[in-house]
Amino acid sequence: MSSIDYSEKIPNNVNLANDRTLQRALEHWQPRFLEWWREMGPNDFASVDVYLRTAVGVDAQGWAHYGTVKMPDYRWGIFLADPIADRSIGFGDSFGQPVWQQVPGELRSQFRRLIVTQGDTEPASVEQQHRLGHTCPSLYDLRNLFQINVEEGRHLWAMVYILHAYFGRDGREEAEELLARHSGDVDKPRILGTFNEPIEDWLSFFCFCYFTDRDGKFQLKSLAESSFDPLARTCRFMLTEEAHHMFVGETGLGRIVRRTLEVMKELGSDDPEAVRRQGAVDLPLLQRYLNYWFSSSLDLFGSEVSSNAATTFANGIKGRPDETTQYQDHVCADSTFEIEVPDGKGGVMKDTASMRNAMNEVLRDAYIRDCEIGLKRWNMQIKRGGYKFELKLPSSRFRRAIGAWANIPTDLDGRPIDREEHDRRTPGWLPSASDRGYVKSLMQRVVEPGKMAAWIAPPDRGINNLPVDYQYVRLN
Ligand SMILES: [Fe+2]
Ligand SMILES: [Fe+2]
Repeated sequence: MSSIDYSEKIPNNVNLANDRTLQRALEHWQPRFLEWWREMGPNDFASVDVYLRTAVGVDAQGWAHYGTVKMPDYRWGIFLADPIADRSIGFGDSFGQPVWQQVPGELRSQFRRLIVTQGDTEPASVEQQHRLGHTCPSLYDLRNLFQINVEEGRHLWAMVYILHAYFGRDGREEAEELLARHSGDVDKPRILGTFNEPIEDWLSFFCFCYFTDRDGKFQLKSLAESSFDPLARTCRFMLTEEAHHMFVGETGLGRIVRRTLEVMKELGSDDPEAVRRQGAVDLPLLQRYLNYWFSSSLDLFGSEVSSNAATTFANGIKGRPDETTQYQDHVCADSTFEIEVPDGKGGVMKDTASMRNAMNEVLRDAYIRDCEIGLKRWNMQIKRGGYKFELKLPSSRFRRAIGAWANIPTDLDGRPIDREEHDRRTPGWLPSASDRGYVKSLMQRVVEPGKMAAWIAPPDRGINNLPVDYQYVRLN
């Protein structure tokens, strides 16, 4: 099962050749995907050679196979993690029963909506990033961007396969729509807000990989628990690819911190203006970018209390990340969860929700804990450099647009404040126009092998044991 058939038009490990109808339908979708890639992807780099990894198997030996490829020739395909023998449903009302190989009729529309929402984010991110290549800080980073782009394209394939194979005509129509909506399009935007914002600088890109892709990781982890086994398997394999995207975000931000510390040491000062004169990213500026991307990614989890979340859990559609290993009670029929809500008098109060209704919040909490890990590491670097500055995640109540805290002005600690104070202090909390202008001014292309832009330190090591100065992209 682990080996992938590359002699087929569409590489796959799902025996596509045995299902002629499905194969034909997907082969019909394939040229449209390629056309979308040419129009909306990193199209200015179609002819360059890139050192990319492609999966040749879904096991540990096969999934990271490296070689030089022109992106339009990348072999996008359908790769599911191997089935787990006798897998049973891990949560909800049908806990303990055998998993489903088909979608139960009464759950079709709920499943379809979730799969389409997940699928929509994959091509959206490629569209958001499609001009970034022009301002890469190094060839190493350029290669990482392209690796992420081709893998997000493959994640679209992962979802389109499920739609085609299990949702009949509706699924095929949804697959077409996934190529028809575009990030930021006035008439046909992408489904989720964050995925309609263009990503025009690399600081935003690294923040996106760190915070927004991590939301993707948590969504995939909870879908990997699904009772619908083909969906669980496709998500499980996506997670192996996704780990690299987190890595790019975390190391990218860590390298920015390292470079800033070097500059501060040279200067003997942490004065933001002085740091900027040396062409580095001052730490308060970085903090404002973290505030922005963290808060916008929190909204992707939805409302704290949600009957929809309760139904998807009860029905076995979407579990919690690491459901089997992290939790004792997998049914949650009468457990509760404490949440914080506005008290209506300018303060915060505790409220109790049923655990099932609070599933979005459970997921968001796990996500926040995962976000903390990188910050700890960067703060350690700062401390070792001898500085007091500490990077912090803002409160999950700060700058929310969805849920109990939507549009309630708070400070970074989540303390409700009046609108006037909020607006006055916002320039200290979120990137201002001049911050963005400064970051934009740093975005100068560096493409000499091994060279880095002045605002970022080199990585500790290259890709796949190659040296950092390897020519990861041949721009010819
Ligand atoms: Fe993805
Ligand atoms: Fe990703």
